[in-house]
Amino acid sequence: MSRVTLSRYLIEQTRSHNTPADLRFLIEVVARACKAISYTVSKGALGGVLGSMGTENVQGEVQKKLDVLSNEILLEANEWGGHLAGMASEEMDNAYQIPGQYPKGAYLLVFDPLDGSSNIDVNVSVGTIFSVLRCPDSNGCTGDLGDDAFLQAGTEQVAAGYAIYGPQTMLMLTLGNGVKGFTLDREMGSFVLTHDHIQVPESTAEFAINMSNQRHWEAPVKRYVDELLAGKTGPLGKNYNMRWIAAMVADVHRILTRGGVFMYPRDDREADKPGKLRLMYEANPMSFIIEQAGGMSTNGYQRILDIKPTSLHQRVAVFLGSREEVERITGYHQA
Ligand code: AHG
Ligand code: MN
Ligand code: MN
Repeated sequence: MSRVTLSRYLIEQTRSHNTPADLRFLIEVVARACKAISYTVSKGALGGVLGSMGTENVQGEVQKKLDVLSNEILLEANEWGGHLAGMASEEMDNAYQIPGQYPKGAYLLVFDPLDGSSNIDVNVSVGTIFSVLRCPDSNGCTGDLGDDAFLQAGTEQVAAGYAIYGPQTMLMLTLGNGVKGFTLDREMGSFVLTHDHIQVPESTAEFAINMSNQRHWEAPVKRYVDELLAGKTGPLGKNYNMRWIAAMVADVHRILTRGGVFMYPRDDREADKPGKLRLMYEANPMSFIIEQAGGMSTNGYQRILDIKPTSLHQRVAVFLGSREEVERITGYHQA
């Protein structure tokens, strides 16, 4: 059988699921931007792209050169096509307005341009995460766009995905109809469907958490991780293995590939921060993907996709992956 490129997959989605042409275009443009980011990341020291900018983003994090470059690549690729009403990003304080000379469209694009940026300088996997929402104004979002337009629950997402820049560059995508994985063919310059039926195994013996924060966790997480560490003779009756890549994209990618449970819990370091990860452009798109692959995602108390956001850069605790383990840790929060 001939190869199915991302373009062909999207055309077939239009035939089978009525995927609108402007959404198809949007995904193609994001994929093209991810190719450009992949190329830029791969240059490393030769391209002069490593190291910090010496600036901070709205969240007080030092920006790496590649955080800023990746953000610019996504903005430039997406602002002119007429498919978007606006964009929002980890690296920008507020909503990005489509420049006046271009038409506006029906969708909103939210992204983490470079996830896991502490990994860049040590040549370990990083990625790009994106989420697509509809402009909430039924008259069309023609005027200036406020942050409010983006504050929609994750259940409203019409598409989500991520690109991972690892040994291979891959694009993982959901249009709400399962999860598909595409691998970048660098010679041809196209993403090719290589992972057609992605399912997160129900049970697992692998967990991912930054153990150095153990002393800061809340009681249910301490209890759960103690039980994981107790192994075969403990209450869970089996030995667990641990992995932590420090890039959500890479940890989630492993879970989509072979199962596991990923945790970034709330902790007591900063009382006003309910977790480290951001709802709109990390937790929501990843939760959509994980659920579409048969997994589960909660903040310990409720389904992440049901949370109604109150601000663009809102943080959230995240427990996602294999259903059996996410159910267990969520249950411990109710106990
Ligand atoms: P970003 O680089 O976009 O700020 O995100 C980093 C996030 C996430 O990808 C990862 O899971 C987590 O931070 C790593 O946290 P630690 O530094 O605690 O390991
Ligand atoms: Mn991130
Ligand atoms: Mn980032």
